[in-house]
Amino acid sequence: MQKFQEIQPGEITGNPFTLIGKDWMLVTAGDAGKFNTMTASWGGVGVLWNKKVVFTFIRPQRYTYEFIEKGEVFTLSFFDEAHRDALQFCGAHSGRDVDKVQATGLTPVFSDGGVYFEEAKLVLVCRKLAYQDMDPAGFIDPSLEKNYAAGDYHRMYAAEIVKAYQK
Ligand SMILES: Cc1cc2nc3c(=O)[nH]c(=O)nc-3n(C[C@H](O)[C@H](O)[C@H](O)COP(=O)(O)O)c2cc1C
Repeated sequence: MQKFQEIQPGEITGNPFTLIGKDWMLVTAGDAGKFNTMTASWGGVGVLWNKKVVFTFIRPQRYTYEFIEKGEVFTLSFFDEAHRDALQFCGAHSGRDVDKVQATGLTPVFSDGGVYFEEAKLVLVCRKLAYQDMDPAGFIDPSLEKNYAAGDYHRMYAAEIVKAYQK
């Protein structure tokens, strides 16, 4: 398998709308002892507090949320189309019920204080900076509420990209 090359976070290429919104990503948190991963297609990359950051939006009922809450670091792994099934699986099952690594055949890499996947084409290792819970009081467009029938407002994490690897 091709080896990861470390790049500067500022050298990440690719269209974020495609990478995140269409290709999807795995958000992974925890450590070699125990970790969990889930598919996400909402989020962003950008600049905040003079840092290169990612924004992820995680609903509190996700098992992955517990791991993100506990740790300092989470990772984003991006894949090519050949791994679509694995991402579908990780977005349709909870790590509370299944072993996602066993089910998908993905290979975890324990590095940089986090966990990511050998099969990825791009990996961002992210250090949590801040979180903010979605507050419906701030919804200017009332139709946003339709995303929250269960009242499960996302927690947004802003996290600094501390390492980036690509193939
Ligand atoms: C394409 C896709 C995108 C998703 N995006 C998000 C997201 O951005 N935030 C979120 O909280 N859940 C998202 N989900 C749902 C979680 O991936 C799903 O609930 C998963 O089973 C949670 O796993 P866990 O309980 O092991 O953490 C998405 C699912 C799919 C299929």
